[in-house]
Amino acid sequence: MKISVVGCGYLGAVHAASMAELGHDVVGIDVDEPKIAALRDARAPFYEPGFEELLERTLATGRLRFSTDIADAAGAAVHFVCVGTPQKRGEYAADLRYVEAAAESLLQVLQPGELVVGKSTVPVGTAARLAELVSEKAPGALLAWNPEFLREGFAVQDTLHPDRLVYGLPTGPDGATAEAMLDEVYAPIVARATPKVVTDYATAEMVKTAANSFLATKISFINAMAELCEATGADVKQLADAIGYDDRIGRKFLNAGLGFGGGCLPKDIRAFMARAGELGADQALTFLREVDNINMRRRIRMVELAREVCDGSLLGKRVAVLGAAFKPDSDDIRDSPALNVAAQLQLQGAVVRVTDPAAVENSRRLWPQLDYADSPEEAAERADAVLVLTEWRAYRELDPVVFGQIVKQKRVLDGRNALDREAWTAAGWTYRALGRRAG
Ligand code: UDX
Repeated sequence: MKISVVGCGYLGAVHAASMAELGHDVVGIDVDEPKIAALRDARAPFYEPGFEELLERTLATGRLRFSTDIADAAGAAVHFVCVGTPQKRGEYAADLRYVEAAAESLLQVLQPGELVVGKSTVPVGTAARLAELVSEKAPGALLAWNPEFLREGFAVQDTLHPDRLVYGLPTGPDGATAEAMLDEVYAPIVARATPKVVTDYATAEMVKTAANSFLATKISFINAMAELCEATGADVKQLADAIGYDDRIGRKFLNAGLGFGGGCLPKDIRAFMARAGELGADQALTFLREVDNINMRRRIRMVELAREVCDGSLLGKRVAVLGAAFKPDSDDIRDSPALNVAAQLQLQGAVVRVTDPAAVENSRRLWPQLDYADSPEEAAERADAVLVLTEWRAYRELDPVVFGQIVKQKRVLDGRNALDREAWTAAGWTYRALGRRAG
């Protein structure tokens, strides 16, 4: 099948290469020339395990191309829209300008019988509006909404082996036509009996925001329990283990710590609240405001904890921050809790040195006022406190005995409950974590 993918950011680039891996003839389109140049050279414009290998493999087959010219999308049977929907500046709502621009540009090439497939996370109602535009400006072409659930760090795996497929389709015979086309696109995935939910546009759009809202709620729930554990002397990690044994609850996404960041969960719950307000249903989602508040409070608590261990004042204290990415195996620093904490520490007078295995370059661009180090050892030299804020494997595996020789004071703050408390305390460290007793 001939496929075009408009938008070659995280979602689009991985989707384009994955569709080529499934055997399709794919062109990825983006207005960002350096990004397209990198992708053509099989260089990933972002850190994602396994992606560069996939890119190299699929480019070598000749089935994958990249272009900055929308005219190259002409003739594709299916056109995926994979552009970003960031949060509007100063507002909760999603900024749809890239989705609109992608739709407008596709209208230049769209022919009867072709299918536009939206994958971006959009406010409910967007697909119906775009479908109207398509039927008006490109009669005979169809639109479907097919949300994507990939996680950074597992993007290739999640795209090629999704937990489920969700198709939001037009009504009537057009729906059956669009479904058949999507089944052809995803043939090997469909053949594995991957669960498939065939529905209307609004439900498909909502599945994505509802899923992300649920995940965010689960994280904030355990972080609210962490606040109570701090107040009572209980242990949130054991609490999570114990409630997680109940199948109905499950242990996944119950890791208490600094909370969620990244380019999806924070902005998606806010856009969902904004859309609910527009629809006159804001009461249904007021709990998400609390989810957001709990999440942001964790960052403040982390800074307080750092001040506490530094004898009540951060002024002039050398603090090593291990981790800048919003989560491990990513160089994404959008709404990163780690960088947010680092910046607050600096504002309170600490001398902060940040390190990260993949995200230093991005961090330097966005937060030039922070100081960066190339390794945890360099960051921690003569430090008064070490904060582990992103749980990279390299940090989880640090040897507390060896590491203890670098610092001035053996004080470690485990912002992700990722370290072996017993090993660190045995090596003479003062260990503090969110939602756990001091060790
Ligand atoms: C998320 C969704 O998981 C994915 O399905 C959707 O398509 C996009 O948004 P992603 O943003 O890549 O994916 O990261 P995810 O692994 O969900 O983690 C989000 C944030 O929550 C990270 O900052 C992570 O550190 C934090 N988190 C996750 C916790 O604090 N505790 C947990 O138990 C799990």
